[in-house]
Amino acid sequence: MEVVKTISEVRAIRQKLNGAVGFVPTMGYLHQGHLTLVKQARIENSAIIVSIYVNPTQFGPKEDFAAYPRDLDRDLGLLWGVGADIVFVPSDAEMYPPGFSSWVDVEKVTERLEGASRPGHFRGVATVVAKLFYIVQPTRAYFGQKDAQQVAVIKRMVADLNMGIEIVVVPTVRESDGLAMSSRNIYLNPEERQAATILFKALSVAKQLWQGGERDAEKIRRQMTALIQKEPLAQIDYVSIADAETLEELNSIERPAVASLAVRIGKTRLIDNMPLE
Ligand code: PAF
Repeated sequence: MEVVKTISEVRAIRQKLNGAVGFVPTMGYLHQGHLTLVKQARIENSAIIVSIYVNPTQFGPKEDFAAYPRDLDRDLGLLWGVGADIVFVPSDAEMYPPGFSSWVDVEKVTERLEGASRPGHFRGVATVVAKLFYIVQPTRAYFGQKDAQQVAVIKRMVADLNMGIEIVVVPTVRESDGLAMSSRNIYLNPEERQAATILFKALSVAKQLWQGGERDAEKIRRQMTALIQKEPLAQIDYVSIADAETLEELNSIERPAVASLAVRIGKTRLIDNMPLE
């Protein structure tokens, strides 16, 4: 496994690679969710490139950029264990040199949910992912279903900008009690960790109602909301039943949809979702 820090090093290695290249962009502090992406990429490609970069432009001024967990040595050990070939660990100066002033703004699908709660977030995500795609030039790129709106934004960007990269979406990896794996789970104290299971419980209610034939989206939202409100440590940001592609809120679930939510447990904001399709 080779660890490289500069764009020119990645380009030089990429030029020598024949066959399909799988790419897994990450912000590090890896967990089983990330490793599942790499393992799937390993099966489907002849070379695997992983990036580790905590992208400052996707964090708001009051968000956790400085506190975001980082542990490069541990990450590299884990990536070695799952067979990554190249790990790209750029600096801020490499990704955003002085004078940087070009941005990728994906409209509409970014306006709701995470986009509404975190202004500028998807501009930062789309810009850094576009840059990484141009640098790495992968055949396929792997993303977790856990960030459903991020997946929708990236698919839109790849289609709109004719990037010709296959986006592979991998199901969310969960702890045994249903909590979606996330680098931010580290912020939860034991009491909050217990309370955080309310997200999966609410999504399971949505899935059960939908599987039982309920198609009234507002009824499902109401039942999810009522359940989360019973958890004293939980503060709802949003509860959504939306079109799986555009993330527009639905009245009636007649096409592939996604139940999603953002809930603050203490000071930690967690997101999760469940496809209804
Ligand atoms: O999902 C993430 O970890 C990040 O948003 C990504 C895609 C690596 C871009 O910084």
